[in-house]
Amino acid sequence: MAPVIEIRNLCKYYRVGKEVIKAVDGVDLLVPNGCIFGLIGPNGAGKSTLIHLLMGIILPNSGSGEVLGYDIVKESIEIRKRVGFMPEGIGFYTDLTAEQNLRAVADLIGLEDKDKRVEECLRTVGLWNFKKLKYKEMSTGMKQRLGLAQALLKDPQLLILDEPTAGIDPQGAREFRDLVKELYKEGKTIFISTHLLYEIGPILTHIAIMNKGRITVQGGIDDIKEKLLSTQGYTYEIEIREVKQEIKEKLSSIDTVKEVIMEPSKILVRCSEPSSSELMSALIGEEIYSFRLLRPSLEDVFRAYTR
Ligand SMILES: Nc1ncnc2c1ncn2[C@@H]1O[C@H](COP(=O)(O)OP(=O)(O)OP(=O)(O)O)[C@@H](O)[C@H]1O
Ligand SMILES: [Mg+2]
Repeated sequence: MAPVIEIRNLCKYYRVGKEVIKAVDGVDLLVPNGCIFGLIGPNGAGKSTLIHLLMGIILPNSGSGEVLGYDIVKESIEIRKRVGFMPEGIGFYTDLTAEQNLRAVADLIGLEDKDKRVEECLRTVGLWNFKKLKYKEMSTGMKQRLGLAQALLKDPQLLILDEPTAGIDPQGAREFRDLVKELYKEGKTIFISTHLLYEIGPILTHIAIMNKGRITVQGGIDDIKEKLLSTQGYTYEIEIREVKQEIKEKLSSIDTVKEVIMEPSKILVRCSEPSSSELMSALIGEEIYSFRLLRPSLEDVFRAYTR
């Protein structure tokens, strides 16, 4: 199936006084259909600018792209009609209730079957029982879920959420994560920007890491971790009954072994290639409690690609 987002060499520059800020600086991006895609980057990386370009809210200086097959410059109205968008720091009328606020949005976008959709969306995000609560009386987590509800009104195939978990407590973030996972299971593609990995990281299937206007790495999480392993090397952690010098010598003599680190109850072996069978053979006769390849975490990936 065609990708839901594809952009090529996209640039957006801002002139502030004499300085030119390259907010988006030659970005290529490919978001496949049916994934949870995380656009991850520190503050000021250019995430919101990139999202505004995708939604056709601002125009690029150069480059091109399509969202759901529509051109981000010439057909942005079609994009805004179809994509469920939750802007960063979304706000609602403070004195209106959750239901009244959603109805106001439904009116604005000219939704048919308004009552039904408003109810469905409030139920989906778990706010139906709080529909009479005024916006100003809601917790941050509830406010963010109302933001998601408004993005869901037109039952979009693609959701673009800019920092949806900003300011939420861990419990609220977990609920938001579960909600996104449910939407993904229903077949929607969800594109989320964030600078906080622990909140949304565990559910992402694909990521792009953005820093200073550029994307340093993108793709499926497992592929990226594999790539990191092959560039940084493969580290095995071996828990063993007796850590002896002769084991270090045996392991060090294997061609692919670059370093052997001895610790009181375990050995770390850094290798240039996958070497589990060679290591196992060298350890025959030893009492091994555990043997595993250390896989990089999302934090390791983030650290490696935001330098
Ligand atoms: N309208 C504007 N005029 C001038 N500079 C801008 C404008 N919008 C964004 N910038 C600058 O572009 C850069 C990228 O900003 P952007 O808001 O896209 O980053 P971000 O990754 O969304 O950050 P955050 O995590 O803080 O939301 C920043 O240096 C910002 O100051
Ligand atoms: Mg932003």
